[in-house]
Amino acid sequence: MRKKLIAGNWKMNKTFSESYDLILNLKKLISPEVLNKVDVLICPPFVNLNAANDILENSGISTGGQNVHYKDEGAFTGEISAKMLKSVGCNYVIIGHSERRQYFFETNDIINLKIKKALENELIPILCVGETLEQREANIHIKIVDEQVTLCLKGLSDEEIRKIVIAYEPVWAIGTGKTASREQANEMHILIRKSVSNLFANEIANNIIILYGGSMNDKNSKELLFMSDIDGGLIGGASLIAESFVNIVNSAI
Ligand code: PGA
Repeated sequence: MRKKLIAGNWKMNKTFSESYDLILNLKKLISPEVLNKVDVLICPPFVNLNAANDILENSGISTGGQNVHYKDEGAFTGEISAKMLKSVGCNYVIIGHSERRQYFFETNDIINLKIKKALENELIPILCVGETLEQREANIHIKIVDEQVTLCLKGLSDEEIRKIVIAYEPVWAIGTGKTASREQANEMHILIRKSVSNLFANEIANNIIILYGGSMNDKNSKELLFMSDIDGGLIGGASLIAESFVNIVNSAI
């Protein structure tokens, strides 16, 4: 039985005091009973993670980074290591988000290295995959996503793959207000599970958590979250407003 995961990707939003208010509100509004049934994660900007973990200690709400470097430490100005994320109490890290691929030129090979470094440091990687509008229109979206899954997960052991979360995020649906239909999303989730089963045992593929991301909000979350192969959401815009995010969390039960 796959437990649902609702994850908020705050991207480059919220100052320290705005983060503080939002996190306090989430802590107040998400009930312990709900947290027994659904995993909840927030990924604020790096500078707010330490305070986030202080506020959320023992709350049952997890935190994660939005990116990580693939080296342990060293002369990489502006970068953050997996060990640093772990040291402030994070359990997760988003890796290979389409905005990282698009604006910071992250390749599947780099993403693969980042996943391995996160796992070495006991962080759960959330691997993001998804096609652009041009790729969907050219009807190569299935091939593109299969290639992303295959290359990004290359060389992982059975034990490591069991810890991974995958997020299917069609680039054309991110921040556009244009959600994939539940059928479109579920079809891709089934194909991603198949890609995983080409690399690992069926039982592993059946148990892997696959999130949908791309304009999920509290109006469309329920219908998406109850499709056979959608195990949660990676939410951008709607995770910045406490009530919206909490409504999405509640809709996962
Ligand atoms: P969105 O972003 O919900 O604002 O579309 C999702 C994401 O990029 O993770």
